[in-house]
Amino acid sequence: MAFSEALAYILVATALIAAGPTTAQLSPTFYDARCPNLSSIVEDVVRQALLTDARAGAKLIRFHFHDCFVNGCDGSVLLTDSVEDNIDSEQNAAGNQGIQGENIVNDIKTAVENACPNLVSCADILAIASNSAVVLAGGRGWEVQLGRRDSREANRSGAVSNLPSPFEPLANLTVKFANVGLNSTDLVALSGAHTFGRSRCIFFSRRLTNFSGSGLPDPTLEPAYRETLIEACPAGGDNNRINLDPTTPDEFDKNYFTNLQANRGLLTSDQVLFSTDGADTIEIVNRFAASQEAFFDGFGASMIKMGNIRPLTGTDGEIRLTCTRVNPLPAVADM
Ligand code: HEM
Ligand SMILES: *[C@@H]1O[C@H](CO)[C@@H](O)[C@H](O)[C@H]1NC(C)=O
Ligand SMILES: *[C@@H]1O[C@H](CO)[C@@H](O)[C@H](O)[C@H]1NC(C)=O
Ligand SMILES: *[C@@H]1O[C@H](CO)[C@@H](O)[C@H](O)[C@H]1NC(C)=O
Ligand SMILES: *[C@@H]1O[C@H](CO)[C@@H](O)[C@H](O)[C@H]1NC(C)=O
Ligand SMILES: *[C@@H]1O[C@H](CO)[C@@H](O)[C@H](O)[C@H]1NC(C)=O
Repeated sequence: MAFSEALAYILVATALIAAGPTTAQLSPTFYDARCPNLSSIVEDVVRQALLTDARAGAKLIRFHFHDCFVNGCDGSVLLTDSVEDNIDSEQNAAGNQGIQGENIVNDIKTAVENACPNLVSCADILAIASNSAVVLAGGRGWEVQLGRRDSREANRSGAVSNLPSPFEPLANLTVKFANVGLNSTDLVALSGAHTFGRSRCIFFSRRLTNFSGSGLPDPTLEPAYRETLIEACPAGGDNNRINLDPTTPDEFDKNYFTNLQANRGLLTSDQVLFSTDGADTIEIVNRFAASQEAFFDGFGASMIKMGNIRPLTGTDGEIRLTCTRVNPLPAVADM
């Protein structure tokens, strides 16, 4: 390599290092001048959806989480299979199987496009809708950071490797969160989203009678709660949907954490936060169980952190016209 090339290389590399790998250029006022009513437009659609679907908000925040954990918060999870566009959907990965709520995202996108055409990314719609979901369920919102752009790619294998599984022990969950820059406090706070929504029986039925081939139930599952789960998940009921929070199923509150203290976490990945010997997550569960304010503070801070995972900004990516598809490329002009 010639000296001048080497110098150019060093200058570029230095500039990249100075910019840092995760310097997101997001801002809470990103759309204020051009779409002042954006958050209320989104909230109105989520409110409408909740009238006929108690899980609408839960579905939306789960989508945002699954978006951010794969190639950053770039709307990649929303893309559906397309041979033409070379999209092998992330929704085909086991961790996304049966994910629901894309119809609600599309309804929000339509309302947003009607008011503010060609401006707001699908990745940002998921971030705003997550905040609406929490507020409408009785939780407290946060200062949503905006300015993400949408990817032109999906990463199915990334979804397979990055999304946590409900069967995993704490050590695995910790690694998967750490891989995207989230620590134990974030893991516990964000798991608190399981204060609403449902899980199908297949994701916890192995805990009920013969856990890990022991012939016995999971010892960290409270017996009376276990009985109700056995009844709710009879043979053939693998796809029955059970409240993640048996105490206040549709409210955004701290009961997820008090449930864990009583061995009433639904998934293995929930209960391990409290029941893993010596874990640093135990005291965090206790802190959130003791104070809803502490949980709401922690949840908002961790949602902002999660929302900052490797967004596309500036001129990277695009503003999708339809959340399920990349934009058509402009026709090649005659030259
Ligand atoms: C810590 C690792 C996590 C694991 C292993 C996990 C796993 C799961 C599973 C298996 C379900 C049930 C899916 C189904 O039945 O189709 C579920 C539902 C849900 N998850 Fe998680 N999750 C985790 C963290 C999170 C986070 C960080 C959020 C959001 C911030 C979240 C939000 C939700 C919501 C709201 C639902 C209910 C969705 C609905 O009713 O459709 N989860 N999760
Ligand atoms: C924004 O919403 C307010 C109240 O919801 C309404 O009065 C106002 O006309 C809206 N502005 C625009 C530009 O749509
Ligand atoms: C897909 O995700 C994996 C895991 O995060 C990552 O290593 C890989 O670079 C991603 N691939 C693309 C093409 O973005
Ligand atoms: C936990 O992670 C280890 C190491 O990556 C892996 O071998 C194991 O299968 C994971 N456990 C579960 C239940 O997924
Ligand atoms: C996690 O990171 C936050 C800052 O983002 C920090 O306040 C908190 O103490 C950290 N938690 C742990 C367990 O390191
Ligand atoms: C529990 O599972 C193990 C391993 O899958 C199996 O060998 C055993 O027969 C099962 N026990 C009962 C009581 O079903």
